[in-house]
Amino acid sequence: MTEVLIEEDDLQRRIADLGAEISSDYEGRDLLLVGVLKGAVFFLADLMRHLTVPCEIDFMAISSYGASTDSSGVVRILKDLDINIEGRHVLVVEDIIDSGLTLSYLVRNLEAREPASLEICALLTKPDRREIDVPVRYTGFEIPNRFVIGYGLDFAERYRNLPYVGVLDESLVLEGA
Ligand code: IMP
Ligand code: MG
Repeated sequence: MTEVLIEEDDLQRRIADLGAEISSDYEGRDLLLVGVLKGAVFFLADLMRHLTVPCEIDFMAISSYGASTDSSGVVRILKDLDINIEGRHVLVVEDIIDSGLTLSYLVRNLEAREPASLEICALLTKPDRREIDVPVRYTGFEIPNRFVIGYGLDFAERYRNLPYVGVLDESLVLEGA
């Protein structure tokens, strides 16, 4: 069985708090949320429903791990934004920051498009795994160095539908499940 790391109630409470904090920080400004596909979709949808400022969403897809649980360090844009972000207040929404390589690349790429502001909101972060510093403005939870699944996070594209965050059972990896 999967060990639960963050219960559904705790996730939802923290996301409501983040939504309130972001709404207050961005008061009087229009916000563009940039979701990183696919993992951030669940968090983004819940977070956005707690925002009280005018906001829009757009998505990017970047390659990271494939089916493995370790970072390759290779980052490629698979799907770019539809919207021009020049002069916009952009908040990048990510499911998890592990090595930081993916986001660090993404931030550099988006900065070059001259947004009015650019901040990062990540539901989860594994500080022990960081290889490169990324300035994260909003963080949901700091978690230990374990591979997690659920609430958008996958292992080989599975388990995104779990309503909680759990630790991947190693026996599932060995079975190739
Ligand atoms: P980074 O480039 O090492 O920071 O990796 C970030 C990406 O790797 C995230 O957007 C996730 O898609 C994936 N990832 C990192 N850690 C985990 C994990 O524990 N479970 C599932 N996906 C993960
Ligand atoms: Mg992934």
